[in-house]
Amino acid sequence: MSAFDQIIDRSGTDSIKWAVKPGELPMWIADMDFKTAPAIIDAMQQKVQFGVFGYEEPPAAYFKAVADWYESQHGARPDPSWMWYCTGVIPAVSSVVRRVSHPGDNVVVQAPVYNMFYHSIENNGRHTLSSDLVYDAAAGTYHIDFADLEQKLAEPLSTLMILCNPHNPIGKAWSKATLTRIAELCLKHHVVLLSDEIHGDLVFGAPAYTPVFALPEALRDNAVICVSPSKTFNVAALHAATVIVPGQALRESVTRAINNDELAEPNLLSLPASIAAYTQGAAWLADLKRVLAANRQQVQASLEKMPAVRPAFENATYLLWLDISALHTDSETFCRFLRAQTGLILSAGSEYRGNGAQFIRMNIACPQAMLTDGLGRLAKGVQLFEQQNQ
Ligand SMILES: Cc1ncc(COP(=O)(O)O)c(C=O)c1O
Repeated sequence: MSAFDQIIDRSGTDSIKWAVKPGELPMWIADMDFKTAPAIIDAMQQKVQFGVFGYEEPPAAYFKAVADWYESQHGARPDPSWMWYCTGVIPAVSSVVRRVSHPGDNVVVQAPVYNMFYHSIENNGRHTLSSDLVYDAAAGTYHIDFADLEQKLAEPLSTLMILCNPHNPIGKAWSKATLTRIAELCLKHHVVLLSDEIHGDLVFGAPAYTPVFALPEALRDNAVICVSPSKTFNVAALHAATVIVPGQALRESVTRAINNDELAEPNLLSLPASIAAYTQGAAWLADLKRVLAANRQQVQASLEKMPAVRPAFENATYLLWLDISALHTDSETFCRFLRAQTGLILSAGSEYRGNGAQFIRMNIACPQAMLTDGLGRLAKGVQLFEQQNQ
């Protein structure tokens, strides 16, 4: 039995995901029901054994590990001098929002998008301006309306755009050509581009993930890129991320923000675990991606027998975006019904705004037996929902 087949009882472990009633099956929040890579666990164990946990700062080996990882995995090397350690991607996003934009400014996003972006923008007194992604229902895919995006970036109060690359929840890796076009528009209209690339390592086939720091110099110098081992290696509670800012002036400004907000201090495990992930985690990641690819195929096969739920995910992330418009246009109502009737807990797409209300999001990063259970519950829930609404 592979480690990826092992069902781990996470109840009673302070897990947000597994704070559920007996018999319920959570497949919503973005962490995986797999143990992380053994090399990461070893590195953390060694640290704990050492027993002295004073103040720390990231060594050169940390930044080199990040640079080497992006070079070997994604063919683009960010210079270590561009990097800053941060206690998470969303803390960095909120800090950059406060530094780069002013209260009342527009921050441009592309709904439906990761819900925490809205909190980072609106809790800081900025205004969310969405250039909604355009859904092609027949193909189950989204694209960008570039004329609309340009119009929104050109508004005088638009100072920052937050991009999700690859995009959660629609599971799309943006092509290099698309990213170039977005970055060119941001530069043209003096809008800083903040690219959240936390899902960059989890892309299946073409188009490949392109880090925004791999774009031409003038474009990357107008960008802030956030990366983390959190999704890739299932270490969300590590609270470790790296902010990459190639342009010197912008970097100095962002560095000040991260320091002012006291976000630059690693916790006792974040450095050894991140270094182990980036230097020794490649083989584990390759195994994980094989398991996730098989899970994606299993979902596709199940959905063929469930015509009311249509796949609307593309080639990135383990979060699958499912179109339920044939069933209902209020995903919250459907998700409540599903939980009550079958115990399956999915994310209602409405959280992500845009046209999200007619979608659900399913986290498939779990052992195959658990996925089979989840898909069975989904099929049962859909059938009961259809019967009730006939
Ligand atoms: C796009 C995206 N960004 C950021 C995060 C969370 O990052 P962090 O836990 O480092 O703040 C998530 C988690 O689901 C995510 O999907």
